[in-house]
Amino acid sequence: MLALLVAAAAAALPALALASPAALLRRSVTPLSSDQIASFKPFTFFAAAGYCPAAATATWSCGVNCDALAGFEVTATGGDGGSTQFWFVGFYSPLNSVVVSHQGTNTSNIIAIGTDGDFFLVPLNATMFPTAPAGAMVHMGFREAQEKAAADVLAAVTSSLAAHPGASVTFASHSLGAAIGLLDALFIRPLIPSSTPFKFVGYGLPRVGNPTFADWVDSLLPDLTRVNNMQDPVPIIPGRFLGFGHPSGEVHISSTSQWLACSGQDSEETGCINDTEPTIFNSDESNHDGPYDGIHVGGCDS
Ligand SMILES: *[C@@H]1O[C@H](CO)[C@@H](O)[C@H](O)[C@H]1NC(C)=O
Ligand SMILES: *[C@@H]1O[C@H](CO)[C@@H](O)[C@H](O)[C@H]1NC(C)=O
Ligand SMILES: *[C@@H]1O[C@H](CO)[C@@H](O)[C@H](O)[C@H]1NC(C)=O
Repeated sequence: MLALLVAAAAAALPALALASPAALLRRSVTPLSSDQIASFKPFTFFAAAGYCPAAATATWSCGVNCDALAGFEVTATGGDGGSTQFWFVGFYSPLNSVVVSHQGTNTSNIIAIGTDGDFFLVPLNATMFPTAPAGAMVHMGFREAQEKAAADVLAAVTSSLAAHPGASVTFASHSLGAAIGLLDALFIRPLIPSSTPFKFVGYGLPRVGNPTFADWVDSLLPDLTRVNNMQDPVPIIPGRFLGFGHPSGEVHISSTSQWLACSGQDSEETGCINDTEPTIFNSDESNHDGPYDGIHVGGCDS
C-alpha cells in the first residue's frame, strides 16, 4: 500500500514540478494560523483608507485607518470620489513596500454594477495591456474606471520605487477598488523590474473578467489573495453563466471566523464561497464590508 502511494506520488511529480510554488500552496483548503490572519492587518487598513478623500490621505490624516498605519510616506493621491474613485500611493517602511489603494463603493452600488446587463465583457486596451493574451475580456465598467487614474498611479508607483530601491509593490483595496486595483496591478506589473516583489490583496473582489483573463492573472500575479467574507454577494458576481471567472487565491472567512485558503479558480472545495453561498439568494449584503479580522472596510472612518 505504502509502495503504491509512493509510486503514485512519484508519477505526479512531473506535474508538480511545473506548477508555481504559489499554486502548490493553494492545493487544498487550509485554515490560516492566527499569525497568518494577523499578517493581513496592514493590508486591511490600507483597503479601508482607500475610501478616504484624496485631500485627507495626502497628509495621512484620514482618521482611524491612517492612524493604524502611522509613518506611511504618501507619494501621491487622486480621484474625486465621484467620476474617479479616490486612490493613493506611498511607501510603508514596516513592509518595505510601495502600497497602492483604490476606493471601493457601497454594497448596493457594486451589486448594481456587477449585475447590470449593460456592462458586458470587452477586450483590454491593447496599448495599456500589450501582454494580455488574445481572448482576455474584462467587465466594461471596471475597465473604464481603471483607465481614469492609471497613468497617474503608474507615475506615482515608479517614482516611489525609485526613491526606495529594493522595495516591493503591494496593492490592497476593497470592492470596486479591488477590481480597479487588479487591472492596475496587471497594467503596472510588466512596466517595473520583474525582480520587484509584487503582491495583490483584494477584499470582496467581484469577478473582473473571463476565464482567459483569470488564467493571465494567475500567471502574472502569482502572489494574489482575494479575501471574501461569509455570505458576501459581491465575490459571486458577475455570474459564471455570464462568462466571468475568478483567478486563484481565494481566502474565505467562515461564519466561525476561520480564514480558509482555497485552491484553484472559483474553488468548489468545502468551506469556500461557492460551497457556502452557491447563489445570490444565499447571500447577506451586510457581509461585504467585513469585519475582516475585526476591521470594518467600506467607508473612510469606518
Ligand atoms: C452608493 O454609491 C453610489 C455611487 O457612488 C451613490 O450614488 C449612492 O447614493 C450610494 N448609496 C448609499 C446608500 O450611500
Ligand atoms: C487605450 O489606452 C491609450 C493609452 O492610455 C489611450 O490613449 C487610448 O485612447 C485607449 N484606447 C481606447 C480604445 O480606449
Ligand atoms: C458552485 O455551486 C453550484 C451550486 O451548488 C454548482 O452548480 C457549481 O458547479 C459550483 N461550482 C462553481 C465553480 O461555480
